[in-house]
Amino acid sequence: MKTLKEVGFNAEKTVENGNKFLLGNGRLGYRGTLDEFGSSACVGLNVAGVYDGVKGKWRETINAFNPFYMLVTADGVPLDVRNGNVLRHAVELDISKALFIRDTEFSVNSRKVSLHCERFVNYADKTNLCSRAVITADGDVDLDVKVGVDTDVWELNGPHFKGVRTGADGHAVYASAVTQEAGRRIDVVCRYSQPINSFSGGFAHITAKLKKDEPFVLDRIAFVLLGGKAAEYGYEQAYGLHLSEWEKTWQRCRVLFGDERAQFALDYSVYHLAILAPDGDYSIAARGLSGQTYKGAVFWDTEIFMLPFFLNSLPDCAKRLIKYRIDTLPQAKQKAAHYGYGGAFYAWESQDGYDACSDFNVTDVFTHRPVRTYFKDKQIHISADVAYAVLEYYVHTGDRELMLSGGLETVLQCAEFARTYSYYNHVKNRYELLDVIGPDEYHERVNNNAYTNYIFHEITVRGVRLAKELSAPVSGELLSGLEEWAAKLYLPQPDGRGVIEQFDGYFALEDVSVAEVRSRLAHPNEYWGGSGGVATATRVIKQADVIMLFNLFPDLFTLDVQKANYDFYLPYTEHGSSLSHCAYALTACRIGRPDEAYKAFLDSAEIDLRGGGKQWAGEVYIGGTHPAASGGAWLTAVRGFGCKGEGNEI
Ligand code: BGC
Repeated sequence: MKTLKEVGFNAEKTVENGNKFLLGNGRLGYRGTLDEFGSSACVGLNVAGVYDGVKGKWRETINAFNPFYMLVTADGVPLDVRNGNVLRHAVELDISKALFIRDTEFSVNSRKVSLHCERFVNYADKTNLCSRAVITADGDVDLDVKVGVDTDVWELNGPHFKGVRTGADGHAVYASAVTQEAGRRIDVVCRYSQPINSFSGGFAHITAKLKKDEPFVLDRIAFVLLGGKAAEYGYEQAYGLHLSEWEKTWQRCRVLFGDERAQFALDYSVYHLAILAPDGDYSIAARGLSGQTYKGAVFWDTEIFMLPFFLNSLPDCAKRLIKYRIDTLPQAKQKAAHYGYGGAFYAWESQDGYDACSDFNVTDVFTHRPVRTYFKDKQIHISADVAYAVLEYYVHTGDRELMLSGGLETVLQCAEFARTYSYYNHVKNRYELLDVIGPDEYHERVNNNAYTNYIFHEITVRGVRLAKELSAPVSGELLSGLEEWAAKLYLPQPDGRGVIEQFDGYFALEDVSVAEVRSRLAHPNEYWGGSGGVATATRVIKQADVIMLFNLFPDLFTLDVQKANYDFYLPYTEHGSSLSHCAYALTACRIGRPDEAYKAFLDSAEIDLRGGGKQWAGEVYIGGTHPAASGGAWLTAVRGFGCKGEGNEI
């Protein structure tokens, strides 16, 4: 398998490379930064599913203290890649072994000193991460290695820790603290293979006399503990366990596909999904383990874009993802009740089931004021997405037990929510879903978004059918109410051209290109949607919307309809969300456009390899990895190219 390598140091790529070279084991994510870096370089050790909120700021996942801080000084010269005394430098991510490697040679007075470091986040022990540094020189030099558990963490809405304490014993440094909100204790420990000579201010020094061509090796075995004890192993043993887990994982997950470029892009996508495989009662955040962007919250990205990979390749994890939603049904019912509805309205940005989405989720770049957004209250399709995922899980696994212990209830409560949310149009004799936001977030508070209406219709019909099939003990009244409702729910039909209107009145919006709308921006980070965005009164959409329907329900629509909509909506799509390209790629496969599909596949699969992309929504930082795009790439390969469609006879 190819590895990812970057030669030379470019300070401007520090944040991007943090994402690109990310390591993870489902519980911990360690960004692809260098040993000598600190919080200003966005070093991050993100912890899945552990949230903290500081008064007046957004709640988010925590970044733990950094156990891998290390600054080597050789003959009084600090080996810091930013200092200019670099002879060669490269970083590498070997995705087959989930191993990060940095190799730097420094010039120190008249000597050459090289620093080779490897690190991995142990896939076999979710609390553990290890690093081995090998330092060599072409002459004798005095080494001073400053190591420690750096408590100056990179945080977006911190500080998340109080009561920070650091300490050391002969071979280890530790830092502990409790989170601000829940008082949850966290201990980060790092053991060294060399004795510590001194310790002060949270950092230890290890000194040595380095002999010409005799390597100095320092292993660092670190643990992030939220309870429990650290294991006792050394580097080799931990690495062996890690490798054997990855070997199994690749055997289960690898998909052979396409040319060299496409194969690597897909392998890289699979890697990014596998490093997020949850091992507990939490789910996957929209930016994975790359940091606190999007508050470490769980969106529909997980159910609609990532779940299929897990269902096929890592079914135990798929079950955890579904369980997470079943377990948070009470919170979803609470949210529905809060807005005055029945059933279950899932959090748009779920943190333990509670909605982390703020009523003001964007900050205006001109006024610096928060902008009222309606994602939380109006993006009701989230409940249908959750229900769809539960039903898909059942189709794949036949797990009756999970269906009867909450799965079916989840589906029916999501349907019930939509029923109570809907409005009966007496003139047209049908139910309508008014005042919603579809997948395209630029158009807020629209009526009868096609995606929303169809998906609720489908999950309702399928949910009722499943209840009957399983002879589940469900109220007959609930079932008949839902059946009746679904039969009368308005489903926007294709017009004479075969195009389904995205929402009522969409066709009447200004018919203008994405380029034209972009040219109207007065600030590059301006928000395109909401009440006064540049796209709001136009047909320009943020991401695939109607197209999503064809990917979820290909059999409901003829290929002619799918083609007509693909051709109609693609030119209006900004792809302002990483969820967009793969949606078009999948449909392109189905309608016999392999070349377009291939391009869109790469746009999705290579998103984190290429870097760049949108880093800001208004004044809010949204950078990080894009696991939904990785999931979408997998979907395109397997369910797009991998399935017989018009024009791709594979
Ligand atoms: C997209 C949403 C997505 C979220 C998290 C937004 O920009 O519009 O569809 O769920 O990002 O990835």
